[in-house]
Amino acid sequence: MTDPLVIFTPSGKRGRFPTGTPILTAARQLGVDLDSVCGGRGICSKCQVSPGYGQFSKHGVTVAPDALSEWNSVEERYDSIRGLPKGRRLGCQATVQGDVVIDVPPESQVHKQVVRKEVTARDIRMDPATRLYFVEVAEPDMHEPSGDLQRLSEALEAQWQTGPVSASLPLLRKLQPTLRAGNWQVTVALYQGHDDAAPRITDIWPGLYEGGLYGLAVDLGSTTIAAHLCDLRTGAVLAAGGRMNPQIRFGEDLMSRVSYVMMNPGGDLEMTRAVRDAINALAGEIAAEAGADPAMIVETVIVCNPVMHHLLLGIDPVELGQAPFALATSDSLALDGSDLDLAALHPAASVYILPCIAGHVGADSAAVALSEEPGKQDALTLIVDVGTNAEILLGNRERVLACSSPTGPAFEGAQISSGQRAAPGAIERVEIDPVSKEPRFRVIGCDLWSDGPGFDEATRATGITGICGSGIIEAIAEMRMAGLVDARGLNGSAEQTGSARMVPEGRTHSYLLHESSDGRRITVTQGDIRAIQLAKSALYAGARLLMDEFGVDKVERVVLAGAFGAHISPKHAMVLGMIPDAPLEHVRSAGNAAGTGARIALLNRAARAEIESTVHRITKVETAIAPKFQEHFVNANSLPHATDPFPELNRIVALPDLSFNTSGDGSEGGRRRRRRG
Ligand code: FES
Repeated sequence: MTDPLVIFTPSGKRGRFPTGTPILTAARQLGVDLDSVCGGRGICSKCQVSPGYGQFSKHGVTVAPDALSEWNSVEERYDSIRGLPKGRRLGCQATVQGDVVIDVPPESQVHKQVVRKEVTARDIRMDPATRLYFVEVAEPDMHEPSGDLQRLSEALEAQWQTGPVSASLPLLRKLQPTLRAGNWQVTVALYQGHDDAAPRITDIWPGLYEGGLYGLAVDLGSTTIAAHLCDLRTGAVLAAGGRMNPQIRFGEDLMSRVSYVMMNPGGDLEMTRAVRDAINALAGEIAAEAGADPAMIVETVIVCNPVMHHLLLGIDPVELGQAPFALATSDSLALDGSDLDLAALHPAASVYILPCIAGHVGADSAAVALSEEPGKQDALTLIVDVGTNAEILLGNRERVLACSSPTGPAFEGAQISSGQRAAPGAIERVEIDPVSKEPRFRVIGCDLWSDGPGFDEATRATGITGICGSGIIEAIAEMRMAGLVDARGLNGSAEQTGSARMVPEGRTHSYLLHESSDGRRITVTQGDIRAIQLAKSALYAGARLLMDEFGVDKVERVVLAGAFGAHISPKHAMVLGMIPDAPLEHVRSAGNAAGTGARIALLNRAARAEIESTVHRITKVETAIAPKFQEHFVNANSLPHATDPFPELNRIVALPDLSFNTSGDGSEGGRRRRRRG
């Protein structure tokens, strides 16, 4: 008689096992991913499986109703207390009695895939650095003297093959009472990094610990700090939130923060304290939202640009303000939460900071590279992370290049006359009729267009308060398509354009987008257009510099990353020449790719090793000293561009060919005026 055949799905792994073999044992021997925290003692319920009965022609087996042992008292007890879902068995209790097909549901897999919402994004394979282990420890014996930690370590090695473990002094203080309270059965949270260092005990509980175990993925930006609270067992995002970076009060952009440090001795310490306090507060807020204890956040991954990186770590960022932009370290960092005063987290929490690519291209770009994987693409892909600084990556399987470009805060609504941050009441979408030149728009917080019935009613509470970054891009692009602004970015007069909405403002003209009943006007001024031109020229010039370096004048795919990237309309971005010409169907938004990269590194140790080796293969291009940057910048000033053709754009949009410059010398209204950016 041959032994019964056990087939696992979805893995397809199969093998023959003697009658009476527990399913968990069969799974382990075949290398099937089946979870267990209690090591088969029937108390954790992590090993749940769904046996299938009947005929499985695909597998060539028929499973009899008695293919598994009968429901036993352990399962009975578990079911009566906690309830086992219908059709489920505990893999450590059910034994093989005949040929059987066993499905391992996703929640019973240790390395389950965390499915991401974005269609094109890869799923995350669960393999966090911190995991829970239930273990039975030998009691002390006078005849064989050894320490409690040594016996715990031996038990972990024997029952879970962890290798020798280490423990901090605070943990040692907790060890003896916990072992005794648990009657020599304890659960330990073990941190095992992606290097060869010995695993470290983060915490210990008597008996089986079934409480929460959390990780925090933080995207520390110059303007905002965004974070996701994740369940380290399932990978689920339990809550997400953000708050303003309090360092804004020291300077809106990075360089002004560096100069604050230069001018104010000790200013870096103030900024370090401010950002650490903000992360603590954010962790508390997000945990509260999820109904979780922030003190059970045992791991944090942080991604940030180089200046934020240094300010968070308490390193003077002054070297980053001047060539050659030397980082104190570009390597990844594995720290303790206490090193960064992250007191809201678990006292033994670990912090992982992704590596930086170079002095201007930080761990946030590394996180984008981890999330978007330009080096694994066949198509030449340009990834633009638009914020106060634009981080740009260009690459394919051959190689990947990176640079950053100082776009300034105009894309976020700053430096714009009616500009505001993206908040309810801000105009975010704009359309201008090419014939009547009349606008219609939508505001954040309302799904209706401004010319539709019910709009006034629906926006009464928020009002129409200003225009946000994506709104100003659409407004200017629509003005360009409607012939209200020319290729050089010059607004026409009412006479030149035939639109009474072009209102004089000093020597220039502004487009009247909205006037509220109390006379408050939202206009797109000549200054607004100049501010956007400067920002977009910096962005385009950075991308163009990378294309030069790559030896191409066309890209195949464009990915817009960053919170703002998620809201930009690709067509309008291309009309303005923010991004190089590309087939519109190949321009997509990746949302907060840096935040996603942080989440990947939080949930998967191998991803940390992967990005550490990837950053070494990314070639950094320095925009500040590149002689061609200025030339590209000047040419990119036009809408969409002075010299580069935009054939893909021209296929879908016919841009009016006009000039509102009446003086013939390239100036505005007869006088050359320059605005300060
Ligand atoms: Fe814990 Fe089966 S392994 S209940």
